[in-house]
Amino acid sequence: MSRIIAIDGPAAAGKGTLAKRLAAHFGLPHLDTGLLYRATGRRVLDAGGNPADPATAAAAARALQPDDLARADLRGPEADNAAAQVAAIPAVRAALLDFQRSFGRTQGAVLDGRDIGTIVFPDATAKLFVTASVAARGQRRWRELQARGVAADLEAVTALIRERDAQAAARAAAPLVQAPDALPLDTTDLDADATFARALELLSDRLGTPAR
Ligand code: C5P
Repeated sequence: MSRIIAIDGPAAAGKGTLAKRLAAHFGLPHLDTGLLYRATGRRVLDAGGNPADPATAAAAARALQPDDLARADLRGPEADNAAAQVAAIPAVRAALLDFQRSFGRTQGAVLDGRDIGTIVFPDATAKLFVTASVAARGQRRWRELQARGVAADLEAVTALIRERDAQAAARAAAPLVQAPDALPLDTTDLDADATFARALELLSDRLGTPAR
């Protein structure tokens, strides 16, 4: 069976960086599933639509093309907000399910998101649930923005993280929950290298040595 590594957790917990490194280590493709929601929201905005409207958002999700995920404008506050809105719509989530499952089916994959271990791949080979304190995640997101030359206020960035946590936990469609068989990894006091090392330790039982 293809190996699937599912990495879930809240915004800015370090999932993306970790997922990329694990993918390279185990020789697997990587999918940042947040990009699917961001690209869907972006498509709706481009067409002048309302990302909270279920029919409009679901049509945009069904029309998504692989190239949409490579767009350079998926990270700003506008796309962020539109992504959170479309992600709460069950028809959008249903439309994106096939894409995620086909991505992993043939070669295996590392996927990071919010519902990979619970809904997309409940039978994943290994599951990690990556968390960090709100303060640590606010700091990280703020540093990322600084590095990209985007002026931002730490308090405002942290408040937005808190708001996204509340939205992801409260939504009826695929709320953010830890799968019962997911291994927890708290990255509050870990940098990217230490997070990667800890993840390898946690995964060693399930995945053994890397495919080379
Ligand atoms: O992880 P990222 O911040 O890019 O996610 C963008 C949006 O998509 C967030 O609002 C998040 O809750 C949502 N999302 C989701 N399910 C996923 C990945 C992301 O609902 N598997």
